[in-house]
Amino acid sequence: MDLRSLSVHEAHFGRLPVVDGPRIGKPGSLVHELEKSGLRGRGGGWFPTARKVHAVVESAAARRAWSAGRKPVVIANAMEGEPASSKDAILLRHNPHLVLDGVTALAATLGAEKAYIAIHRGSPIIDVVTRALADRNDPVTIELVTPPARYVSSEESALSHWIGDGVGTPVFGKRPFERGVNDRPTAVQNAETMAHIGLIARFGGEWFASVGEPTAPGTCLVSVSGVVNSPGVIEVAVGTPVSEIINRCNGFSGESSGFLTGGYGGAWVSQDSLMAAHWSPDSVAAAGGVIGAGILWALDARTCPLHEVARVAHWMAGESAGQCGPCRFGLPSLADDLDVIAGKHAQMSDVHRLNARLPLVQMRGGCKHPDGTARFIGTAMHVFQAEVAHHLRGHCCATTSGTALPIAGMRPSPVGFPGKDFK
Ligand SMILES: Cc1cc2nc3c(=O)[nH]c(=O)nc-3n(C[C@H](O)[C@H](O)[C@H](O)COP(=O)(O)O)c2cc1C
Ligand code: SF4
Repeated sequence: MDLRSLSVHEAHFGRLPVVDGPRIGKPGSLVHELEKSGLRGRGGGWFPTARKVHAVVESAAARRAWSAGRKPVVIANAMEGEPASSKDAILLRHNPHLVLDGVTALAATLGAEKAYIAIHRGSPIIDVVTRALADRNDPVTIELVTPPARYVSSEESALSHWIGDGVGTPVFGKRPFERGVNDRPTAVQNAETMAHIGLIARFGGEWFASVGEPTAPGTCLVSVSGVVNSPGVIEVAVGTPVSEIINRCNGFSGESSGFLTGGYGGAWVSQDSLMAAHWSPDSVAAAGGVIGAGILWALDARTCPLHEVARVAHWMAGESAGQCGPCRFGLPSLADDLDVIAGKHAQMSDVHRLNARLPLVQMRGGCKHPDGTARFIGTAMHVFQAEVAHHLRGHCCATTSGTALPIAGMRPSPVGFPGKDFK
């Protein structure tokens, strides 16, 4: 079944029903189904979607935006900045119309005149989505935009900034639901969230909430990689045991030294803790991880985890917009500390210095980029403490000099030229 064809898609799911618009400062009735569904965004933060919808409409009404002709804007975030994630690309490659249905339904309930789908420049799914858009005749214009393939350009204020002003850097203090694209109230939702909205508009909130967990209903996509026999993207009910997810990927293909959850802005968890957990925000958090954008990476035990973490830390430092102190100076220093610890001449004082620097970058940036990177590094120091002890004695357990975690081209840390190359 080729769901990229609109007629096949509509034959399979049924046509998207007509969605009514907002009235006297309240969203259209789809918001009640979103409330019943309990849908939480799948872009990383798991923020309740209905709350965002209310916030956008209230913000528009409070600023008399309607009378000024400044209606809300909708953005589908299909940037998928996390290199270890492939769920949004797979979803759009196989089922672009479901995501676009969600955009149409959300735009209608907000009374938006304009909607965008943002896919990073150079992505192979641009062609698929271009063809899907050409087949459709939506009441709202959906424009495909291609911001630069930078990690922080997929943050929501950066997306609004790029669409409005052509610069894909995060903007301090501007929350898109209040002041997004050209200062209009803007609803930014992840591509997978949009697909769930497309289904809820058809089948209702109760249907959606009939699986999953009370605090996080529905299904979710998980990008599973590393030492598993069948890596890929799978859909599971929220709350599925992690052991079952690994079984669905045909088990481990080798020994793993630890799990990365949530990607490079996420957290490391020991295999024992995570295998006892369920794939839900609460259960993964209780195990010390973060479900984030649905990333699960079983790290190959043959590689040096400290070297892997140092490589990614340098990459994350180079991906920042270089606008704030924690990104300009903090992240490069943390990555340099990790280089020393991952080497053969590490001293306990190097570990102490890193641990002292970690809190200095947290909660101090214009966006959450430094916080996520610090969590990625801090949890690695905890989960791989036995490996740190080996390195302090001048040994490394790695049996290969190969690397495991993907990074897309290393850039220098942007000290001295903040915001360069974000157009
Ligand atoms: C540095 C950074 C990078 C992000 N990258 C993405 C991304 O690639 N895709 C995405 O959907 N959300 C990303 N987010 C989260 C977005 O800012 C935003 O919260 C999300 O798109 C909202 O959608 P949701 O409510 O459906 O989850 C990122 C956040 C940060 C701080
Ligand atoms: S914290 Fe980093 S990525 Fe975020 S706005 Fe500041 S410099 Fe840019």
